[in-house]
Amino acid sequence: MKIGLIGFGSMGKTHSWCVKNLRYFYKDLPFEAEYAGVCTTKPDSAKAAADFLGIDRFTVNEDDLIFDKDIDIVDICTPNIFHYGTLKKAISAGKNIYCEKPLCISYDQAKEIAELAEAKNIKGQIVFNNRFLPAILKAKSLIEEGRLGRILSFRCEYLHSSAADPQKKAGWKQNREICGAGTLFDLGAHAVDLVYYLCGRISKVKSMGQIAFPERLGADGKPWKTNADEAFYMICKTESGAVGTIEASKIAVGANDDINLAVYGEKGSIKFSLMEPNWLYFYDGAAEGGEYGGLKGFTRIECVGRYPLPGGIFPSFKAPIGWLRGHLHSMYTFLDACWFNKETSPSLKDGAEVQKVLEMALENDLK
Ligand SMILES: NC(=O)c1ccc[n+]([C@@H]2O[C@H](COP(=O)([O-])OP(=O)(O)OC[C@H]3O[C@@H](n4cnc5c(N)ncnc54)[C@H](O)[C@@H]3O)[C@@H](O)[C@H]2O)c1
Repeated sequence: MKIGLIGFGSMGKTHSWCVKNLRYFYKDLPFEAEYAGVCTTKPDSAKAAADFLGIDRFTVNEDDLIFDKDIDIVDICTPNIFHYGTLKKAISAGKNIYCEKPLCISYDQAKEIAELAEAKNIKGQIVFNNRFLPAILKAKSLIEEGRLGRILSFRCEYLHSSAADPQKKAGWKQNREICGAGTLFDLGAHAVDLVYYLCGRISKVKSMGQIAFPERLGADGKPWKTNADEAFYMICKTESGAVGTIEASKIAVGANDDINLAVYGEKGSIKFSLMEPNWLYFYDGAAEGGEYGGLKGFTRIECVGRYPLPGGIFPSFKAPIGWLRGHLHSMYTFLDACWFNKETSPSLKDGAEVQKVLEMALENDLK
């Protein structure tokens, strides 16, 4: 499968690392995939990206790749505002699509994209990479097995400290004109997705956004007024009646890449921390109590790298898991779906569902 890569910043690098390394991690990989061209905004950076990838083809016009009959897949790694236009063109060209989150910058756009893609039978996957960590996959299977029973409540926070320093210049992720909404779309998209994935559709949201540093320097070094949220706090209800909180912040001093997630059900509960991704904590309400606690208490399940075959072979499943491994499994799952004509998951429709919740958060901001 030949892939056209649009955007070569941190995510372009991440995706291409995944494609290049897949065959180490999955036994007897039944397909081959490679980047056939790369597009960025400037000829110099496009050429540098092609050199880095070891390919000849680079361009500053994404249409060159999207409408090339030899390209099978369009991989979208550009800032949020550009996703919609690229998605629309890739769908019209009949290409399969791997798209970074958030899918678009409004629910109207996202819904349109999901519908167009479905009508043209496009395989599309949105990159919610945290779903693909063994501990999160384990949490999903415990919930599906009914081990938690009816879900009553949830908490999910995704915390960074990247905007906590007021001296730090604003980048495009702090500029609403390019990101659509700040930390809400950036980290909030992942947090909302995890709750949606594990607890079901979110139907109600009240929220509050926060800008703690209204002025900082812009990318050009000149004074700049912050126009995108630095943190967002939501209280939500799912269609099935579970209630909980979702928080996304880039002003959490001391945080690195901290997702802390808990889901509480009638029969049990789970807890997960992205900074300790090897473990899923599971509380089985049916465990016997007794003297000194009996067998009650949270069990630390060693999810480590225990992907089912053909994954889990390299490095040994016992080796600690990390952020890149989730991206790798996300990419593998997408390419496998394209090759064997399977359903993609999370689909562009799932991306639109998350976008709906993000939009509800913006609309119901108590300010
Ligand atoms: N899933 C994740 O773990 C994760 C992490 C970070 C970012 N993201 C998402 O990935 C996307 C890209 O983020 P990033 O951190 O890689 O950004 P980045 O700023 O590091 O890179 C953006 C790239 O896009 C290129 N670009 C910008 N406008 C373009 C255009 N119109 N046409 C072609 N190329 C263009 C730039 O030249 C650059 O190469 C965003 O949507 C972001 O939300 C996802």
